[in-house]
Amino acid sequence: MKNKKVLVTGGLGFIGSHTVVALQQQGVEVVIIDNLSNSSIDVLGGITEITGKTPEFENIDLRDKSAVKDFFEKYPEIDSVIHFAASKAVGESVEKPLLYYENNISSLIYLLQELQKKEHSNFIFSSSCTVYGQADELPITENAPVKKAESPYGNTKQIGEEIIQDTCKVNSNMKAISLRYFNPIGAHASAEIGELPLGTPQNLVPFITQTAIGKREKLSVFGNDYPTEDGTAIRDYIHVVDLAEAHVTALQRLMNGKEKSNYEVFNLGTGKGNSVLEVIQSFEKSTGEKLPYEIAPRREGDIISAYADTEKANKELGWKASRSLDEALKSAWVWQKVVQKKEEEEQ
Ligand SMILES: NC(=O)c1ccc[n+]([C@@H]2O[C@H](COP(=O)([O-])OP(=O)(O)OC[C@H]3O[C@@H](n4cnc5c(N)ncnc54)[C@H](O)[C@@H]3O)[C@@H](O)[C@H]2O)c1
Repeated sequence: MKNKKVLVTGGLGFIGSHTVVALQQQGVEVVIIDNLSNSSIDVLGGITEITGKTPEFENIDLRDKSAVKDFFEKYPEIDSVIHFAASKAVGESVEKPLLYYENNISSLIYLLQELQKKEHSNFIFSSSCTVYGQADELPITENAPVKKAESPYGNTKQIGEEIIQDTCKVNSNMKAISLRYFNPIGAHASAEIGELPLGTPQNLVPFITQTAIGKREKLSVFGNDYPTEDGTAIRDYIHVVDLAEAHVTALQRLMNGKEKSNYEVFNLGTGKGNSVLEVIQSFEKSTGEKLPYEIAPRREGDIISAYADTEKANKELGWKASRSLDEALKSAWVWQKVVQKKEEEEQ
């Protein structure tokens, strides 16, 4: 893997930036494509601070087919891609379905069209546990049926997986892995990079940290009458650095020819579900901060409980999440304080 050049699309985003760090720490040369639609160029500085190396960066919109083609002409040596770039706000995708279908599907197709011209290629795709919906059995294995998507965003992940699978079927020179993430949280321990939600966060942890710092008045816990032990919804929260490391392992698997077939799927989670109230308790315990919250009605479309069966990822992929919920929440809090300080300095 060392000295290999790898394209990371969306490499300035939340999960992408942590993965670029993990790759560079393994000696991989990274080229990032990002159009900065949901990230900042400052993230490059954060990656450089941590790894001592600035990845190459191309400001390209992947919806531009000819720009994608030009990119692969400029970098003919690149045949491995980790594809994070996508629009990811579930609510927005309901309002603007075509924007989501265009961004998430066309960019995927243009990348695969270029890769299938290569003698050999490796492709890692950011998928999501949303493909399972409310699974009938917990923990959720990779064999659980894919349920009808609840949103255009979720549908782009299902369609994306199908496009890759169909493409691999007829291109034996192409190898791909879809990684179905559960709930990524936290930040790099250096607090040089982390999650940068635009506007009101849709995910629990950025909402918690913004509330604790005083940016939001209180956290709404959507529903405490679910059939769970404390009545609140359960998710599998995974530290983003664990998730980033899984991408390195997945790419290594393909580069070393360890795959069982040229299209594979793995769940990436911790295997443990935590309720919203448990997350709040863990945040308060690990940071010493008090979190104001209220119980609000259930949110439409929210599922009750989802956590991963990690056996396939642990045994087959050879990767296991090692960081705790407390550690992840603490890192998110340290990152929030850094973001707040920067925002105050800019005012
Ligand atoms: N964060 C989560 O909870 C979660 C869960 C499951 C799956 N995923 C998937 O993981 C991937 C990364 O998520 P994230 O949380 O890091 O998101 P993010 O928004 O932080 O990162 C995505 C990056 O892609 C870039 N981008 C978007 N459209 C682009 C385009 N057309 N051309 C070039 N760059 C473009 C954005 O500017 C951003 O930097 C996404 O595919 C997302 O759907 C995320």
